[in-house]
Amino acid sequence: MSTLDFDNQATDPVELLHTWLEDAKVRTNLPNPNAMTLATVDQDGRPSARIVLLRGLDERGAVFFTNYASRKGRALDAHRNAALVIHWDELERQVRIEGRVSRVSGEESDAYWSTRARESRIGAWASRQSEILEDKAALEAEIERYTREFEGGEVPRPEHWGGYRVSLDQVEFWEGQPARIHDRLVCQRVNDRWETCRLSP
Ligand SMILES: Cc1cc2nc3c(=O)[nH]c(=O)nc-3n(C[C@H](O)[C@H](O)[C@H](O)COP(=O)(O)O)c2cc1C
Repeated sequence: MSTLDFDNQATDPVELLHTWLEDAKVRTNLPNPNAMTLATVDQDGRPSARIVLLRGLDERGAVFFTNYASRKGRALDAHRNAALVIHWDELERQVRIEGRVSRVSGEESDAYWSTRARESRIGAWASRQSEILEDKAALEAEIERYTREFEGGEVPRPEHWGGYRVSLDQVEFWEGQPARIHDRLVCQRVNDRWETCRLSP
């Protein structure tokens, strides 16, 4: 059944994506219905992709949290454009987002940091994400070191950890349909309002 409304020329992709995320939470057994592929391009023009979790969404963009010094962080320092893809196989739905990337404010990162479990916070200090690790024992030693360092107190947010926001320059909603006549609805920001069109499958 088609649920995309092609008659509405001004579909709000934020609203629609919230609805689809809620559907994925309620109608699937996926442990991470907010998992999305993040594609970046490094300074040599080489693309790379990995999964991150969608932690915030509004008209300003889609937010995820990570290590700013990681491979993806370095790529985003070089190229401020990124693409996100969310796929819910059980719902025959896919969402593609393309936009410009910026760091969220320190306050916003702090707010999310405060919701993380203590072990995850220690891990963010101990792990030099994307760097070569001699062996697991070396990481465990770092975890022990920071556990001792912060014992009995708060674990502050490291400078190198925080959020990125991908602006919603283009958002495409894809929905599987019988006989492969799939539906594709694209929303683009034009002069402060949304414009939509249908794409051929
Ligand atoms: C389900 C799932 C969720 C993940 N969520 C995040 C996340 O929110 N942030 C993050 O930095 N890495 C996350 N990861 C790990 C990344 O996929 C990746 O391994 C890591 O960020 C290093 O990527 P990089 O070397 O390209 O920077 C997640 C992996 C999986 C499988």
